[in-house]
Amino acid sequence: MFADMTRIAILSASVRNGRKSHRTALFLQRFIEQHQLAQVDLIDLAAYDFPIFHERLRLLEPKPAAAIEFAQRIIGADGVIIVTPEYNGGYPAALKNAIDLLYDEWHRKPVAICTNSDGSFGGMQVITSLQFSLWKMRAWTVPALFPIPKVGNAFNDEGTAVEPETMEKRATAFINELLWCVEARRRMITQA
Ligand SMILES: Cc1cc2nc3c(=O)[nH]c(=O)nc-3n(C[C@H](O)[C@H](O)[C@H](O)COP(=O)(O)O)c2cc1C
Repeated sequence: MFADMTRIAILSASVRNGRKSHRTALFLQRFIEQHQLAQVDLIDLAAYDFPIFHERLRLLEPKPAAAIEFAQRIIGADGVIIVTPEYNGGYPAALKNAIDLLYDEWHRKPVAICTNSDGSFGGMQVITSLQFSLWKMRAWTVPALFPIPKVGNAFNDEGTAVEPETMEKRATAFINELLWCVEARRRMITQA
């Protein structure tokens, strides 16, 4: 239904050596593509390896080419899935660094949050802080959860789910909420 037009960016937020939550990003990418729900742009913060930015992009001089590219990939997405690990009840500094780089780019952008942890609660504690930061920047945070507990046991290195049926059912519910918001936004823009 949305395949031709919809572009979903998956922002994989762990830059840690030996990271596990990137497997969830790979799983989501493959799931969305296999079901032709959208085109996927996998944005890997580890690949960017950004320094700590001293300013927001619009005020930063000179503007690093990689930062401009990152901004363009967010602008180009109809919706964003942030796949984040839980670090001590919060989200990683690398993700905050990347989010704060932008501002207008987040405005009315549907953003769904997928939290990941080693423990049993799937990083749920991250939701409140990450959602609040995005809300402050006027992103359209999607009211859907996709917590992944014990993420290292949930997928293999390539992002294949150990329990595919359960994982795909949960992913479907999560992605459908995001796609609903993407479609609602598209209709508003078309009518405006
Ligand atoms: C600095 C740091 C803090 C962490 N804090 C928690 C935590 O509070 N609760 C938890 O379940 N796992 C915690 N973990 C484990 C991560 O959730 C685990 O590494 C998981 O695989 C997701 O992160 P990753 O994608 O970087 O691997 C922590 C890991 C690091 C590196």
